[in-house]
Amino acid sequence: MAVLELVNISKHFGAIQAVSDVSLSLERGEVVGLMGDNGAGKSTLVKMMAGNFRPSHGTIRLDGAELVMHRPVEARQHGIEIVYQDLALCDNLTAAANVFLGREIRRGIGPLRILDYKAMYRRAGEIFRELKSETPPRNLVRQMSGGQRQAVAIARTMLSEAKIVLMDEPTAAISVRQVAEVLNLIRELRDRGIAVVLISHRMPDVFTVADRVIVMRRGRKVADKPIAASSPEEVTGLITGAIEQV
Ligand SMILES: Nc1ncnc2c1ncn2[C@@H]1O[C@H](COP(=O)(O)OP(=O)(O)O)[C@@H](O)[C@H]1O
Ligand SMILES: [Mg+2]
Repeated sequence: MAVLELVNISKHFGAIQAVSDVSLSLERGEVVGLMGDNGAGKSTLVKMMAGNFRPSHGTIRLDGAELVMHRPVEARQHGIEIVYQDLALCDNLTAAANVFLGREIRRGIGPLRILDYKAMYRRAGEIFRELKSETPPRNLVRQMSGGQRQAVAIARTMLSEAKIVLMDEPTAAISVRQVAEVLNLIRELRDRGIAVVLISHRMPDVFTVADRVIVMRRGRKVADKPIAASSPEEVTGLITGAIEQV
């Protein structure tokens, strides 16, 4: 059964129709590449899955049950995590502090409860190891490479039992070596049964790591097929409109 289903989802901002009548479903442990030109509606679509925007029309189902979200925190409570394009990290905090931001571990009782840094460093270290990332939990994010920063943002999604991880352009602004690192992180999530939606402009990334590709153009879904049944040429045609729909 699909873990997440969108049924005839639309979103408009005033007169702008950002997403038009999109239906799709995500299976456990599947990586879906979401592609499309700037303004195609990709970010708006995943923000609806993450509870940032309410759809204007349509239904979202999680494990078969209708899901109506009013705030992003509700998505997180349901196991839907999003890694934003800008990562939303605090540069002046350590990797561990960023992983636990808003979900800090405390010890002690009553007014004496204090932050348990030791426990947070330990748990963050475990998660980085699970992700096979060499990110030191005690280092400041400010000092980190793009790949390590991605690892911190992804580690955040692994604190809870995430079912779905949505990633908006995670490889847009990093070096080739770091891209490989991020693609490995995505594989680690997939191997744990998490469904991953990867928004990307980078054809090689999507064709390397995705099981399926969805293409959007002007708010509409124009393709949704196994990656093995498509090609970069076809996807480019769908993005630009040279190919209408498949
Ligand atoms: N918060 C918003 N308010 C008004 N218009 C928006 C907002 N977010 C996105 N849009 C518009 O919706 C359309 C789709 O944008 P977006 O989902 O960001 O596309 P993509 O991520 O594919 O580049 C664009 O025309 C964009 O200007
Ligand atoms: Mg976008």
